[in-house]
Amino acid sequence: MNDAKRMVVLTGGGDAPGLNAVLYALVTTAEAHGVTCLASEDGFEGLIQGKLSPLDSKRVQGIASLGGSVIGCSNRANPFAYPHRRSDGSLGTEDVSARVLDTLSREKIDVLVALGGDGTMAMMSRFGPMGVKTLGVPKTIDNDLAATDVTFGFQSAVDFATLAIDRIHTTAAAHDRVMIVEVMGRYAGWIALESGLAGGAHAIVLPEFAYEPEMIAAKIQERAAMGEHYSIVVISEGARPVGGDHAILKLMPEGHLPRLGGAGERLARALEVLVPDHEVRVTVLGHLLRGGSPCASDRVLALRFGVEAAHAVLRDERDVMVSLRNGVVCTVPLAEAVGRNRFVQRDTDTLTAARALGISFGVDWESPKQS
Ligand code: F6P
Repeated sequence: MNDAKRMVVLTGGGDAPGLNAVLYALVTTAEAHGVTCLASEDGFEGLIQGKLSPLDSKRVQGIASLGGSVIGCSNRANPFAYPHRRSDGSLGTEDVSARVLDTLSREKIDVLVALGGDGTMAMMSRFGPMGVKTLGVPKTIDNDLAATDVTFGFQSAVDFATLAIDRIHTTAAAHDRVMIVEVMGRYAGWIALESGLAGGAHAIVLPEFAYEPEMIAAKIQERAAMGEHYSIVVISEGARPVGGDHAILKLMPEGHLPRLGGAGERLARALEVLVPDHEVRVTVLGHLLRGGSPCASDRVLALRFGVEAAHAVLRDERDVMVSLRNGVVCTVPLAEAVGRNRFVQRDTDTLTAARALGISFGVDWESPKQS
């Protein structure tokens, strides 16, 4: 093992509960083996601006239970599409990856470690061929990374959403209302599926399957006919009706994903027409799902990922991502995590269970529209 290594760490993309637990485990383990750790604050921003900060075991003491990231996050600092204002005032992007390379070489960095989701892993995979030794650690509440069974942050988001849905039940029942709960997850429906099932939703709307508002209205009417005058619908922010598109709040410059939002309100408007006797309300959980402390299982996963990342650095591995495969923490080629996402499938057993329990997905599973 080489005791003269220098490693820089960043937390890319949006935050997720568990980032600090990874940092704690990674830094304390690496430092104990003589590795010098530095931080690129706010994702790639520190590397782009040429400013790294010391990240030693003292700085990460006692942070494993905290949400957020002590070194800051950014989902704007993409070195290959860095936002900049053009002379005409419009927003464009430029490739500033050379600045990252300069910083790495000036600071004599041996390995770049990024805790991030699919976007960050895609950026990391472009630095490998440029001669940078890269190591990824998968994070995202969306749980949509292909090369790992699960990402940390996901369970905390599901737990919080479930608690929120539990609370929505009582007020929905008291007022005989249809309550729509919109959750994050981007184009993957894992948070909606698991929290909806755990929270006893009557309908769950996922991005993976275009929905028909009429089918959700039918579920509401079916319940009303049984004397149940309230209904809970959990909808993913990335949901889209048959023939429609994702609900987009704001388009972003090239190389950046659009901001989603409004899926719940759009469904509410449709239901107000289809079931006018029912009052409809929408609750958007949004960033509440990302904030706060990681749940116990996310802490444990993050700590395991952090130790494995440090060991991979010490083993001199390059261009790999830490992963959980069949319950075992390991590393996989970074390339496996890039360009492919993990989505809810028709035969996902959690979906099958939810369907068996009578939960509506707003979908006619036999319809060719779903093929
Ligand atoms: O990828 C994580 C995520 O929380 C998505 O679920 C959501 O669409 C997006 O990030 C929100 O990003 P922002 O923090 O830019 O609003």
